[in-house]
Formats: sequence, structure tokens, C-alpha cells
Amino acid sequence: MSNKKTILCIGAGYVGGPTMAMIAKKCPDYKVIVADINPQRIAEWNSDDLPIFEPGLDEVVKAARGKNLFFTTDVTSSIKEAYIIFVSVNTPTKMFGHGRGKASNLQYWEKTARSILTYSEDDKIVVEKSTLPVRAADAMGKILHSNTKGLRFEVLSNPEFLAEGTAISDLEKPDRVLIGGMETPSGKAAVQALVDVYAHWVSKENIITTNLWSSELSKLVANAMLAQRVSSINSISAFCEKTHANITEVSRAIRSDSRIGSKFLNASVGFGGSCFKKDILNLVYLCEHYNLPEVAEYWEQVVKMNDYQQNRFVMRVLENMFNTVADKKIAIFGFAFKADTGDTRESPAIYVSKMLHEEKARLAIYDPKAMKEAKHDLADLDQSLIEYCNCPYEAAKDAHAILILTEWKEFKSYDYAKILGLMTKPAFIFDGRNILDHEALFEMGFNVFPIGKTPLSHLT
Ligand code: NAD
Ligand code: UDX
Repeated sequence: MSNKKTILCIGAGYVGGPTMAMIAKKCPDYKVIVADINPQRIAEWNSDDLPIFEPGLDEVVKAARGKNLFFTTDVTSSIKEAYIIFVSVNTPTKMFGHGRGKASNLQYWEKTARSILTYSEDDKIVVEKSTLPVRAADAMGKILHSNTKGLRFEVLSNPEFLAEGTAISDLEKPDRVLIGGMETPSGKAAVQALVDVYAHWVSKENIITTNLWSSELSKLVANAMLAQRVSSINSISAFCEKTHANITEVSRAIRSDSRIGSKFLNASVGFGGSCFKKDILNLVYLCEHYNLPEVAEYWEQVVKMNDYQQNRFVMRVLENMFNTVADKKIAIFGFAFKADTGDTRESPAIYVSKMLHEEKARLAIYDPKAMKEAKHDLADLDQSLIEYCNCPYEAAKDAHAILILTEWKEFKSYDYAKILGLMTKPAFIFDGRNILDHEALFEMGFNVFPIGKTPLSHLT
């Protein structure tokens, strides 16, 4: 028999691990199990060296692990034991067959549905934590109700809104928790069971309950809207570079309008991360599926603008370095897709590195947390042209240019006079995150190329 107060999460990734650790911390009266088919990942969750870097995560995991938080590869008995089962497996873009390049690859998700069906011995609540296409819960329900054991499963949608790098504070104080369920008596009871979990630390006003499809769609829309803001400001950065307008000034002027608001208006080399691109493409695919071509085209442009911005960044490097980077050493500061994470999924650094590699540049890469991931991402390239460095000064030694690709705070505090002394002249900095003090670097002797601003160059 399952225990009403046992929660299982299938999938111990960037979402499953931190989310369940927070539930365990906040709900000492529940037992929380996190199960994954990847034994190495589980071993790391059970060690002192957690599989992901996330500020504050170590403390939360260590406080609950072994008390009411358990990591295991034993999916089968965990399914039997739990009453509430979160599914937090990966749902990447499908790279084969129908819908390739846009639709979600649902194979991992469907496998978990089948495992739940096979191993369950009594009724369960199954919670979609993964980001899924709208109406995925319908398919999940159909699979689960194909059982001949007379079991009832209630499927809920509870998408996760945490951002990497701030996962612990996002989980601790979420803007909202969204729970979608069927509008039947048993559906409402299941929603209430999940509300009871979150109500341990989230106020009732911040727990939004909706129908299943609104909840699934809201997750895709939230990511599409956030990415749209980044693409919007990035499109204007290209305009600024042509006209001597300054993107920081434009951004400040518009963000002070309370109707527009202040977040997600930092121009950059482009957005990365495992979610934005795949979720927008999934939305585009669904719009096409429901014969809404204008809507599909509207959202697809957000991704196209992001591709344009990354490409534009590399072209600016090339053009300003006398149209060749062949055999020049280019130092790359930052490989993670954003600061405070070691995650490099869809990082602009991958695209920029590959393009520069095609131009036969010699790359010297430094990131405070993502070196292992960078090696993995660039494994297909000619390794004789890539150096993986232990510190920024090693990367900058004899380099012709530095590219800032991640907004790590520590990049602001380096000794740039020392760095300039180590570099080949003329020395270039291309600040893909607009985080450095450009005037000061220019005064020192660097040729500085920010995003969306007039370059500060000694060469013109
Ligand atoms: P991830 O790749 O880090 O983790 C997924 C885990 O699921 C992996 O460890 C994998 O081994 C495991 N898994 C796959 N199939 C399994 C199976 N059959 N049984 C047991 N384990 C299995 O992915 P993630 O970044 O945690 O994302 C998970 C979901 O959450 C995705 O749908 C994603 O879109 C969504 N999401 C991610 C974020 C984020 O910031 N990463 C934020 C919100 C939502
Ligand atoms: C995103 C959503 O924010 C989160 O709610 C969802 O649950 C998962 O997807 P994440 O991908 O972790 O989170 O990072 P996010 O902070 O959204 O940043 C995404 C990318 O946009 C990063 O590459 C970041 O550097 C970039 N970005 C963000 C900008 O270029 N400019 C900005 O103003 C903000």
C-alpha cells in the first residue's frame, strides 16, 4: 500500500533535485523520494559533490537527505510506495521524424507513464512537473487508465517556474505555484492534496489553481514571453549599433515605464538555457498543429532573432579584427548559459565557439563552473585549437581578443591592466553581456566593443 504522505519524483535533474529538496525541507511530515535511471546522477546526489551547481542547494539537500529526502535508482519500489508522483524527466526538442526540430520528444515522459502503470498497486496522483505540450495530460491519463487493475489515477499539471542560478530562492519564495487539474470531484480532491503540500510554505493567494490545459499552456507562454523580451531588446541593440543610440540608455528609458517593467531587458549575445528555445519551438509546433500559422510565425521570430543576435556577435568580432581570426588566440570568458550555473545547454558560447573554430581561431576557454561541460560540448572540434584554462589570466595570455559570453560577477573584478599586459596588441574586448566598465578599459588601452553601443576603439 502506498502512503498518502510519500512523494516520489521521477527525474533527478535541474528541476527534480532542487524542487524535491525544497519540499522535503518545508514538509518534514512527508517522505520525499527522488528516483532516476542514471546511477551516476543518483550517486552524486548522495555524495558531497552534487551533480549540479546551484547557490544554496548544498545546504537544503544536506539538511534533509537521509531524514525525509532520499535519492534512489529503484524506480519500481518507489512507485509502489508513493501516493503523489511528480514526473520531472527531460522533454527536449524532437530531432527525428514528424515534428523534428520543433515538437517535444515525449519518449522519456511516456516511459515513466508506462512504468507508473506497470508498478502501481493502488490509486495515485500523477503530477506533470516537466514542461509538456498542451493536452499532454490527456495522453498521460489515457495511458494510465488503460490498466486492467481497476486503479484510478488523477493527473495534475504543476509546471515549474524556477530559473537556474536562483532556483533555491525561486522555490523558497515563488511568485506563484500553478496547479491545473480536472474539474471533477476527484480532480478537485487531487488538486487539494497538492495545494496542501505547497501550503506548508506558500501563501494561499500565491497558489493558482486552473484547468489542466490552462496550466500546461501557461508554462509555455511564460517562457515565450520572457524570451520575447530578450529578443526584443536584442533587436534594438542592432539598431543602436547603426545609429549611435545606446542600448543601456534606451533600456533604462523604457524599463522605468511601470507598464513595461524592469526585468529581462538586458541586451546580450543571445539567450541560452535548456528551456526558452525548446519551449517556444514547442509552442510554434502546437500552433501549426492547430492550424494557426500567423501565431506560429509570430513566436518563431523570437527564436530567429536569437539566432541572428549570436551570428551578429561573431560577425562583429570578425569584421573588427581585420576580417580574419585564423591562428589568432581568442579568450572566451564564460561558457555557461548564464551566471551562477554550470549548465551550458543551448549556451550562446557553444555557437560562438563553433563559428570561431570554423574561422580557424585558437580558443582559450575559462568559466568558473562549466569547464567540464565546455569540454563535452566542444568534443567534436579539433582539440589542438582549444585550450581549457584554469584561470582568466592563463586564457588571456597572448590572446588577441577577450569575449565575455556569461554575466559572471567575478569577470568585473579581474585586474584588466594586468590582462592587457599579457595580451597581443591591439587588444580587443567584445562584451557580449555589457557587464564591464567600458570607459575604464578603453582608457587602459583596450579596443572595446559592447553590445548595442558605439565601440570605444583606438583604431579609428
Ligand atoms: P534534466 O535533463 O536535468 O533531468 C531529467 C532527468 O530525468 C535526468 O536525470 C534523466 O536521467 C531522468 N530520466 C529520464 N527518463 C527517465 C525515466 N524513464 N525514469 C527515471 N528518470 C528518467 O532536465 P531538467 O532540466 O531537470 O528538466 C526537466 C523538465 O523540467 C523538462 O521538461 C524541462 O523543460 C522542465 N523545466 C526545466 C527548468 C530548468 O531550469 N532546467 C525549469 C522549468 C522546467
Ligand atoms: C527560464 C525561465 O526564466 C524560468 O522561469 C523557467 O522555469 C526556465 O527557463 P533559465 O533558462 O534558467 O529560466 O534562465 P533565465 O534567467 O530565464 O535566462 C535565460 C537566458 O536569457 C540566459 O541565457 C540569460 O543570460 C538570458 N537573458 C536573460 C538575457 O540575455 N537578458 C536578460 O535580460 C535576461
